[in-house]
Amino acid sequence: MSDKKTLPSWDVLAKHEVFPEANHDEIARLNFLTHLNVHLSANVLPGVRVAYEREVKPAFTKEHGREPQSRHEIREAMLHNKYFQIWSGLRRNTMEMRHQAARSQVLRQIESITEKVSALSNANSHNIELDDSISIPNNVGSVDIHCQPGCYYTEYFKDDVTVAASYDLGLFVTTAGLLGTLSDGGGQAIGKWLKDDHSDFKPKRILDLGCTIGHNAVPLAQAFPDAEVIAIDVARPSLRYAHARAAALGVNNIKFVQANAEDLSQYEDGSFDLITTSMFLHESSHIAMPKVLKTIHRLLAPKGLMLHLEQPQYEGMDLYQQFIRDWDTYFNNEPYWGPMHELNLKEMFTKSGFNGQDMFDVGLVSLVDEKIFGKREKGDAGEDYGRAPVWNAYGVWKK
Ligand SMILES: C[S@@+](CC[C@H](N)C(=O)[O-])C[C@H]1O[C@@H](n2cnc3c(N)ncnc32)[C@H](O)[C@@H]1O
Repeated sequence: MSDKKTLPSWDVLAKHEVFPEANHDEIARLNFLTHLNVHLSANVLPGVRVAYEREVKPAFTKEHGREPQSRHEIREAMLHNKYFQIWSGLRRNTMEMRHQAARSQVLRQIESITEKVSALSNANSHNIELDDSISIPNNVGSVDIHCQPGCYYTEYFKDDVTVAASYDLGLFVTTAGLLGTLSDGGGQAIGKWLKDDHSDFKPKRILDLGCTIGHNAVPLAQAFPDAEVIAIDVARPSLRYAHARAAALGVNNIKFVQANAEDLSQYEDGSFDLITTSMFLHESSHIAMPKVLKTIHRLLAPKGLMLHLEQPQYEGMDLYQQFIRDWDTYFNNEPYWGPMHELNLKEMFTKSGFNGQDMFDVGLVSLVDEKIFGKREKGDAGEDYGRAPVWNAYGVWKK
């Protein structure tokens, strides 16, 4: 990596009570993978663009009598380029190795993690509601999202949290610390932005949809300690771990509920002031998303805020950048990533009952401890397309 910043070691991650332990070799393996990832994005990826500009694009233009007109044409042409193949294969491999490393680390201590989760869960049982009748929707169940074995929901034994603990410790390999010591920089940034820019807005009830292990729901609960936060997901192991993790962090104003965001009929119309999602829309299908958005519209109180944290939409982006950002769709088991990023969100919001023209888009830099991670800015070396430390928050205030 070219510059000023020293890459943080995986060991900077906060060790809350249910966080898996790591020995010397495990830390070394996770650091190797993290640094390989950063090396690929900072030093190898720029060469993919050079290969495109110098070889692939001219060859395409010669053959077709015009330049590529879509990210799909670029991808199809780049598939035959050796430089792209090397970068893409290595990147995919770091993802697979991340999961392998995290999974073996969790499994060697799963009994003790499960015991700790159960103890915290029993002591705080009023803050979790699991519901056996909730089935896994197709968009979650039909693919192991980002190559994560068992996705977010698979249980290998009673009270299992394997997939969740693996996600908690392995995410760093992909983000290289861009999300902070608790992988919560996005949620922290939302809390700070609301307090700085909308100081009159004091949500009493907050709903976070698709919370996984609560990385970004917990900082919202911390930002608004007097609010009641409901965090929902369909995935039991993730909710169990999220619940214990929040309790371990001393956060008690959040309840984790197993429910499907497409149908939250148990909650009354207009009963939430703030409804958030983080990295959720890009894992929702074209079938699920309209139902979720209608549900949000129904549940949001007048003057309430809907806010979605995502990477930027493709519209207006140059085609090469769209193609690189689209890598996850084709090579990282993220089939909804591209389809979601090409959507017209204003139209989607309008169809759900909001006034889509009121949609705003605010760039939020992941809020992390600068002493550990350095100051994060757009364009940083080490920023990987699709994993930028700068988020786009797409929001609408309900009239
Ligand atoms: C990328 S993860 C979200 C990450 C999380 N919001 C965070 O901030 O760390 C997507 C989550 O959405 C959940 N999910 C997807 N569709 C859902 C639905 N219809 N209802 C509830 N949860 C859903 C998945 O189980 C998964 O845990």
